[in-house]
Amino acid sequence: MKPLTSPKLVHTVADLRGAIAERARFGETLGFVPTMGALHEGHRVLMREAARRASFTLVSIFVNPTQFGPKEDLSRYPRDLPGDVEKCAAEGVDIVFAPTALEMYPEGERTRVHVGGLTEHLCGASRPGHFDGVATVVAKLFSASGPCVAVFGRKDYQQLQVIRRFTRDLLIPVEILGVPTVREADGLALSSRNAFLSAEERQRALSIPRGLGSAVRAFAAGERGAAALKAPAVEALQAAGLRIDYVELAGPEDLVPVKETAGDRALLAIAAFAGATRLIDNVVLGEETGP
Ligand code: PAJ
Repeated sequence: MKPLTSPKLVHTVADLRGAIAERARFGETLGFVPTMGALHEGHRVLMREAARRASFTLVSIFVNPTQFGPKEDLSRYPRDLPGDVEKCAAEGVDIVFAPTALEMYPEGERTRVHVGGLTEHLCGASRPGHFDGVATVVAKLFSASGPCVAVFGRKDYQQLQVIRRFTRDLLIPVEILGVPTVREADGLALSSRNAFLSAEERQRALSIPRGLGSAVRAFAAGERGAAALKAPAVEALQAAGLRIDYVELAGPEDLVPVKETAGDRALLAIAAFAGATRLIDNVVLGEETGP
């Protein structure tokens, strides 16, 4: 066990590079967990994984404006830097990087990273420009951190695939690690946005893991029809009064929707609104046991 000292808190890329260089000089390896803060147990599991894979750890906390659409929740996204730093301390994190928007997007900036194909469907279809914002900021974070193992959650499955793709395509010396979705005891996937849910909305949101669970059972029983695998999820969400953004079956690598018949593995992904709060969840059928 590491002693629980406060992490080194840095706000600029120059200070971040300095703090990393100090450790890397002695041949230590870096584990990096990029976040937008409002840290919960899901983030903390990623921190533990980073610590297992590397000798010192970095968490970034930055609510990235370019990945929010004009009508999305950027201004009301939960923010609690002191509370987040405490949680990082409790996990033995070595460095916390909390930059300003101007630090990440220098005056006059004109560059975006766009990943083709993978961003066309699922959340890419309903959140235009979202993944350009994600890919751009994560590429900047990797440029600031240098070589490392970077840990991401499979809860944001499409995001994970997009990050894997541009990291390979841009020859970025970062190893990407995906970690299974962390859930509450009742199956709800942990999310910073769960804080927005009323008790009643939270109850209705349980239809999301229930829908995924039905698909897992149907798949295990041999069902491969796309419509039949999606139907119980759609019904569960509708019965709970959630507004469906999408329920989609897709190839786990290319993320292209499966129209007719699933193969040995298939991604079942859900996005739905409980009140004003948009929630996402997924399971890879044939690979994960799901909620
Ligand atoms: P954020 O939503 O804060 O999530 C940070 C990381 O935590 C992501 O890799 C996400 O997949 C992971 N995560 C969130 N909930 C999880 C859960 N229940 N189980 C497992 N992992 C979970 O995702 C982002 O921030 C941003 O888009 C970012 C990549 C930081 C770029 O701005």
